[in-house]
Amino acid sequence: MEKLVVKGPTPLKGEVTISGAKNAAVAILPATLLIDGVCTIENLPNISDIKISCTILEKLGAKITWNDEHSITIDTSNITTTKAPLDLTSKFRASYYMIGAMLSRKGEIEVGMPGGCKLGARPIDQHIKGFELLGANVTVEKGKIYAKAKKLKGCPIYMDIVSVGATINVMLSAVLAKGTTIIDNAAKEPHIVDVANFLNTMGADIRGAGTDVIKINGVERLKGNATYSVVPDQIEAGTFMLAAVATKGDLLIKNCITKHLESITAKILEIGGNVEDNGDSIRVWCNKRPNKATIKTLPYPGFPTDLQPQMGVVLSLANGTSTINESIWDSRFQYTEELNKMGAKITAQGKTAFFEGVKKLSGAPVYSSDLRAGAALVIAGTAAEGETEIYNLEHIDRGYENIEEKFRSIGANIQRITE
Ligand code: EPU
Repeated sequence: MEKLVVKGPTPLKGEVTISGAKNAAVAILPATLLIDGVCTIENLPNISDIKISCTILEKLGAKITWNDEHSITIDTSNITTTKAPLDLTSKFRASYYMIGAMLSRKGEIEVGMPGGCKLGARPIDQHIKGFELLGANVTVEKGKIYAKAKKLKGCPIYMDIVSVGATINVMLSAVLAKGTTIIDNAAKEPHIVDVANFLNTMGADIRGAGTDVIKINGVERLKGNATYSVVPDQIEAGTFMLAAVATKGDLLIKNCITKHLESITAKILEIGGNVEDNGDSIRVWCNKRPNKATIKTLPYPGFPTDLQPQMGVVLSLANGTSTINESIWDSRFQYTEELNKMGAKITAQGKTAFFEGVKKLSGAPVYSSDLRAGAALVIAGTAAEGETEIYNLEHIDRGYENIEEKFRSIGANIQRITE
């Protein structure tokens, strides 16, 4: 068993470079199934979700060459099966993108029910609604999803809920459909724009990604033969911004798109931190105890749920009592119990948590319940006095590239230990 041991408190200082976005990359890889040929994808984050995704694509018949640890050339001209390996697809959430992509490419797919972080109920009814409106038959039984279609036909699709996954999945299934699909009430996250940019680079005709109406004119085929670089990770950048505030540090966060970070910047300024926006890098520093705040997580451009636990660490150390309302997931406050073991005073009731700010946290053994909870605990351990041991690292490794190396490079005393 592995654990991270963090000794604090350390104000994080220096420069850190952001990797490619996990939630864009895990959709772009299945999107290569739409290409009848070869393409190169660069700036892939070196994380376990990407490795699993590549293995699934290989099992479907794709040929992958690793150019370096962040770049692959993938040939999807010979897809040999429509059965994705159930054990692998059930391991992570984004395996549901195989459905949209394979429906387009082969008109058929069988996958395991998607896994991923346990954040409460994670229905996929909006994905299924989209596939069915485009003309597919979808059945869910015995932990498997089976979808089949003769020829998908474009149509208007109104999303009852703003969903990142359903928006991308419908985009994937509509790219090669006959006619035009219009997704209304679409999600607007940067990774949606990135997947659309990737598909358009390969020959798709998608307009309006990044707004709540996306129009997809179906094309005959995607030509491939192009290179695409994944957008920088908004959530990893936000994680380091909040780490700078929580540890009273000073970080220059490089290779990010600061436009994607506006909701985080606004909250950091509100609680008394400092932000300098340089367009493709952002400096964040804080030399005093942050002020209390009220946060509500919302779809983009609102405050992201994927930064809620990291913000929770900041607010657990703030002056006064703060409130976070988690409006996306039913169960994203599990980390608060771990922070309370470190001396925080947080009361979580359903989708709201109250943070009575304390002056300091102290190290303790803690367990990461999911990916972003794990990142929050690394920040908390760095800010806390004494030694924190963080367990369940598989969650963190799914989505953060070399987390301990990146934290060490900005001054944290953090080691990965195999017991
Ligand atoms: N929802 C439905 N029906 C659906 C789809 C979603 O009711 O068919 C609900 C969900 O239960 C949730 C809300 O709609 O309450 C939003 O869910 P969404 O579909 O947007 O989430 P997702 O696509 O499953 C992605 C990210 C999550 C991130 C959310 C919200 C990936 C692989 N995952 O999940 O990322 O929290 O969007 O931004 O892109 C993470 O990276 O730590 C993570 C959990």
